[in-house]
Amino acid sequence: MQVIIFDDAQQVADSAAKWVAELINKKAKPVLGLATGSTPISLYQALVKKYQTEEISFKDTCTFNLDEYLGIDENNVQSYRHFMNTNLFDHVDIDKSKTFLPTCAQGENPRAQGLAYEQMIKEAGGIDLQILGIGANGHIGFNEPTSSLASRTRIKTLTQQTLTDNSRLFSADEFQPTLAMTMGIATILDARYVLLMATGENKAKAVKDMVTGAVSAMCPASALQMHENAIVLLDKAAASQL
Ligand code: GLP
Repeated sequence: MQVIIFDDAQQVADSAAKWVAELINKKAKPVLGLATGSTPISLYQALVKKYQTEEISFKDTCTFNLDEYLGIDENNVQSYRHFMNTNLFDHVDIDKSKTFLPTCAQGENPRAQGLAYEQMIKEAGGIDLQILGIGANGHIGFNEPTSSLASRTRIKTLTQQTLTDNSRLFSADEFQPTLAMTMGIATILDARYVLLMATGENKAKAVKDMVTGAVSAMCPASALQMHENAIVLLDKAAASQL
């Protein structure tokens, strides 16, 4: 695990954008793993800028998102599909038919849907670079504490802490989903490179557990200690307990 500490969140985003740009300029058919949450927004802004200045093109890029809420329509402003469209896809030259999120509509078999998502990743050639954030409880994707380190794409129930953390994004009369479809920890570990971004004091404890704690299902992000090419980009506040 390579840990790099920057002065501020903007530098974290700029560094992450460099990693992504290098991959998509180097590979003929790059496969990116994407994340939602407030942390990667500045990364997506930096990538849009690089696209506008013709440093990069997403024309041949295929993407797989980590997770999506269950029981939410893709046109709902709270869906992660909407998040990806508005923060990245609508502003670059990506072919949206090559952008995927794990979903399971009513009546579909969750296990079959999970297996199908894993299969699509495989057929695309595997994920070259997976972007990750981290939950205050150490979750990655929606792999909450106690998730199996061998887990694959499936449905997870969100913990109270995650629901509380994310409630800031929902207005009082808006439905906040309590279930999500998420890549598993083993799915994430299959990526050739993993790039985790963490900023702000509220992530310091989770970062400490991930980097210096035991590898444990109680801190899902600690599984990255077992990855050969895991890069952790932190600002000073997120690194303050290391
Ligand atoms: C959500 C997402 C995670 C993300 C985490 C942290 O629960 N499923 O992928 O890393 O929140 O989000 P934020 O960056 O907003 O702190």
